[in-house]
Amino acid sequence: MAATAKKTEDLSQFGQTVIEGKNVTKVFGETVTALEGANFDIRAGEFISLVGPSGCGKSTLLRLVAGLIEKTSGDVKVNDDLVTKPRTDIGMMFQKAVLLDWRTAIENVLLPSEMKHRITQEDKDKAMASLELVGLKGFEFHFPKQLSGGMQQRVALARLIQTGADIMLMDEPFGALDEFTRERLNVELMRIVGELKATTLFVTHNIQEAIYLADRVMVMTPRPGKIAEIIEVKFERPRDISIQTSREFNIIIEQVRDTLGSH
Ligand SMILES: Nc1ncnc2c1ncn2[C@@H]1O[C@H](COP(=O)(O)OP(=O)(O)O)[C@@H](O)[C@H]1O
Ligand SMILES: [Mg+2]
Repeated sequence: MAATAKKTEDLSQFGQTVIEGKNVTKVFGETVTALEGANFDIRAGEFISLVGPSGCGKSTLLRLVAGLIEKTSGDVKVNDDLVTKPRTDIGMMFQKAVLLDWRTAIENVLLPSEMKHRITQEDKDKAMASLELVGLKGFEFHFPKQLSGGMQQRVALARLIQTGADIMLMDEPFGALDEFTRERLNVELMRIVGELKATTLFVTHNIQEAIYLADRVMVMTPRPGKIAEIIEVKFERPRDISIQTSREFNIIIEQVRDTLGSH
């Protein structure tokens, strides 16, 4: 094992528990145990990365928190409520941007507002600000097909910000992008979460990305998915991308790899 495993968790800088899982199990059909006995406790303002090999139940955990699927046993709570249906205080983002291609960037960002009420000038101002926050100033009236894959994900992120949700669930949002674009978006997301201070659960199978962004990394094992270890990442924020080459960072990488490799 790597030398710096932090045995005691210090979560005093964060708020109350926002997302809680107690012994959560999900079985698909009769035989596929996607998640087994997962326990987690995510605090207000925390950024949690969830890593693990393909098929280990990361998306399943996220969908349970979002109320998109039902648990088999155990409890999932969000803000102390048992999750029984999709919640409006949660925003989601996926590997595919899922933009409407006949709508401009800003019209896509305005969708969550449109679902709630008639669009106001305030919504439009907010959408412009959300697009600026993700680095798309000047591209507000472009259509998705005029934007690169990375820019489309930025639009999806702006749309997520537009919801105003305090809880953001992100399922491999940069998984389909090239390394260079992924790294740039990691840096941008670092800045954005610093501003929003939302509680974030971020799924990835990229270990560097997981550590760079997170306050804690939850490491999952192959099916049946279990949370094998939760590792604190104590670098100060905002973090420069250069921390990725530091010795401390690489010790944490080793620690994650050890956990993944020993199951
Ligand atoms: N709707 C479903 N019906 C049946 N099996 C499913 C369903 N969703 C996921 N699974 C299975 O559950 C396991 C975990 O899937 P998933 O949570 O998508 O993994 P990950 O996101 O870590 O790649 C996999 O074996 C997958 O095939
Ligand atoms: Mg998945």
